[in-house]
Amino acid sequence: MKTIIVGMPQGADLAKRIAKRLRAPFSPLWSVPFPDGESHLRFTAQVKGRHVVLVQSMHPAPNDGMIECIFAINTARELGAKKVTLVAPYLAYMRQDKRFTPLECQSNRIMARLLSCADRIVTVDPHLHRIDRLGQIFGKTRTACLSANALIGEYLRKQHPGAVIVGPDAESYQWAERIAEHLRAHAVVLRKKRYSSYTVRIKVPDELVVKGRDVVIVDDIISTGHTIMEPAKQMLRRGARRVYVVAVHGIFASDALRRLQRMGLRVITTNTIATPVSRIDVAPLIADALK
Ligand code: R5P
Repeated sequence: MKTIIVGMPQGADLAKRIAKRLRAPFSPLWSVPFPDGESHLRFTAQVKGRHVVLVQSMHPAPNDGMIECIFAINTARELGAKKVTLVAPYLAYMRQDKRFTPLECQSNRIMARLLSCADRIVTVDPHLHRIDRLGQIFGKTRTACLSANALIGEYLRKQHPGAVIVGPDAESYQWAERIAEHLRAHAVVLRKKRYSSYTVRIKVPDELVVKGRDVVIVDDIISTGHTIMEPAKQMLRRGARRVYVVAVHGIFASDALRRLQRMGLRVITTNTIATPVSRIDVAPLIADALK
């Protein structure tokens, strides 16, 4: 069965890179909204009899991104695709994994149910906190949960050997510890208390000596940036030489990236979401998973 890689509106660059690595044809999904804002999509190549790989990152427009995926998966099937894989390098709504207040929508499960019309979902470092496997929300749809840890580890080994690796909150051990292992180092994982989307408290323990050293704060997602700013401020105050920040997914809500950079932090992300600081390419990881 021949594969075709289809670049969706929020995934075209990465789709091209994946297609190049797989030596598979690339085709962009045409998308121009109707005047009333409804999505209007069209395949630009035949998909009949093919394995259609749709590539769409769910940012900066998670809701449009999701609807486009649902439309594209179903349209590919109607047009005779044999198999449809959705590559969503950044999977939105994964942090809504609990009804945090009564009557609230727990969106991760509903999002998964809606995307289960694909045969397979491939994603990179989804935010797994209160669930530990994607299968728990995706039911029978096959899922591949890739991790950028080795790529990030390799990048840091070359660029910042000897830095202190810090995870800003309990969940970040999945990245900080794995990446530190790659560097044959030890990670320090901090504790965070979240009061609202914009208010968090994180205490850097006094025993952590950073004076004169480079520090790398590692997390899966940077959204408002507060999870990073809190510990970074304390480390700069305590004389850290340079503070680097590495995240898999750079959401950077409103002007978060600018605010982090204004503090003097050097920010690096992968390209699961295309950002001005995407320095680590996940295309090889995804291409290997599709082989
Ligand atoms: C949540 O636990 C995630 O791992 C990130 O730490 C969080 O999403 C970052 O959010 P923000 O940048 O808004 O503090």
